[in-house]
Amino acid sequence: MLPTQSLLIPLFGGAAAAANLYATHYSGTINHLTFNNNSLTLVSSEKTGQTLPSWITYDAVGKKLYIPDENFDENSSGVLVSYSVDAKGALTKAGNTTTPRGGVATVLYGGKDGRGFIANAHYHTAQVSTYKLPLKDGRPLQTLNYTLDGPGADPDRQEAPHPHQVLVDPTGDFLLVTDLGSDKIHINKIDKNTGKLTQCPSAKTLYGAGPRHAAFWSPSCSKSRAAQGRGTVLYVANELSNTVTGWSVSYPSGGCLELTPKQIITPYEGNSTAPSGASLGEIRVQGNFLYTSNRGDQSFAPYDSLTQYDIAANGSIAWTELTSAYGLLPRSFELNLAGDYIAIGDQISDNVAIVKRDITTGKLGALAANLTVTGPSDPNSGNPVGLNTVIWAE
Ligand SMILES: *[C@@H]1O[C@H](CO)[C@@H](O)[C@H](O)[C@H]1NC(C)=O
Ligand SMILES: *[C@@H]1O[C@H](CO)[C@@H](O)[C@H](O)[C@H]1NC(C)=O
Ligand SMILES: *[C@@H]1O[C@H](CO)[C@@H](O)[C@H](O)[C@H]1NC(C)=O
Ligand SMILES: *[C@@H]1O[C@H](CO)[C@@H](O)[C@H](O)[C@H]1NC(C)=O
Ligand SMILES: *[C@@H]1O[C@H](CO)[C@@H](O)[C@H](O)[C@H]1NC(C)=O
Ligand SMILES: *[C@@H]1O[C@H](CO)[C@@H](O)[C@H](O)[C@H]1NC(C)=O
Ligand SMILES: *[C@@H]1O[C@H](CO)[C@@H](O)[C@H](O)[C@H]1NC(C)=O
Repeated sequence: MLPTQSLLIPLFGGAAAAANLYATHYSGTINHLTFNNNSLTLVSSEKTGQTLPSWITYDAVGKKLYIPDENFDENSSGVLVSYSVDAKGALTKAGNTTTPRGGVATVLYGGKDGRGFIANAHYHTAQVSTYKLPLKDGRPLQTLNYTLDGPGADPDRQEAPHPHQVLVDPTGDFLLVTDLGSDKIHINKIDKNTGKLTQCPSAKTLYGAGPRHAAFWSPSCSKSRAAQGRGTVLYVANELSNTVTGWSVSYPSGGCLELTPKQIITPYEGNSTAPSGASLGEIRVQGNFLYTSNRGDQSFAPYDSLTQYDIAANGSIAWTELTSAYGLLPRSFELNLAGDYIAIGDQISDNVAIVKRDITTGKLGALAANLTVTGPSDPNSGNPVGLNTVIWAE
């Protein structure tokens, strides 16, 4: 028999466990934080042994963290590291492998349960590399090398392809790559047994869009529809044009996933143009709400902002509200599973801000906690500095 709520409340009521969060910092650290009763605490900070830890993928089933290395040095490599997470959230190194440099994002894919392999986006080497899990040092399973069709609109940022994120579609059959340098979204079919990726035709964004990160949405009323991919939309944060594109996702029988652009809007009220100096950062979906972070826009001076969009039943989005990022350069943010808090990673101000969220309206409310997470960085090294990714581990 299932326990009823009245039985559960005396067991758990009033004694909610602290939530674990992790944040990577360009000074070379992984930081463990706990959030409880509006209080955010730094539990530990340790060197990962990498040059520039840049992103965190959390495996909630296997209780592991994966961290790629953005290492810029053209004459060396990156190291992809994994950590085991214990019941209290403490970390132990589990494995690592040498990778190409410039690792900026990872994703788990394939195998029996979507956790058999890991793919890495390498911004600086214009590559995607894949490895079988668990990690042990060795050659990649596969390396996809991208080339430009022709000169990009932005000579500084689009002089080469720049894979910025790797993500898996809701069916688990396709791995997508947002490529900021070549204005493309690459599409790969996954062989779940071998982890091999087969390239499909890429989708082309508008010239100069600079697609950075993306998030899928499926009509939430039906899990089976989501599993079949019907009605799915991919929202892409275009860093260079400061716009969000909604792409309809379709699955022609036996073929490749296809993307058709359906909508482009800006993160600002009335579809107004982004302030100069703004640069779209992260994009996330929670239920029928979409959020982006707007780095450097100074909408809440001295702080930057986040945008909330409402998602209609047909997948079209409407601007809803702009709220404070409670810091500078919100490079990352993530909503917790319950959806009642959002954690924001502000890179220049080196802080994690936790903001209350209304689960019905999706609106972001007051600041619940704010913590500085810093570390020694050498401003003369030419390397990026500051806090980059924050995630909830639930
Ligand atoms: C939560 O914090 C408030 C204010 O610091 C404190 O009064 C209260 O006892 C705390 N509650 C719990 C359950 O720790
Ligand atoms: C990678 O693993 C090897 C072997 O366990 C270890 O000696 C090395 O310190 C690890 N490197 C990193 C960056 O974790
Ligand atoms: C990388 O190595 C090449 C050849 O030795 C050298 O010319 C170049 O300066 C090196 N680059 C860096 C960043 O050290
Ligand atoms: C991609 O480039 C790497 C060198 O950086 C090379 O080892 C690999 O074979 C290339 N992969 C393909 C599929 O061409
Ligand atoms: C909103 O702005 C974008 C970017 O300027 C433009 O492409 C799009 O057509 C605009 N949409 C509407 C409805 O005006
Ligand atoms: C999608 O739904 C919205 C909100 O109901 C509506 O304004 C819009 O016209 C619809 N778009 C299409 C293409 O049907
Ligand atoms: C949060 O902390 C950062 C770093 O200490 C600080 O710069 C920022 O002003 C704080 N934000 C708020 C809203 O207090």
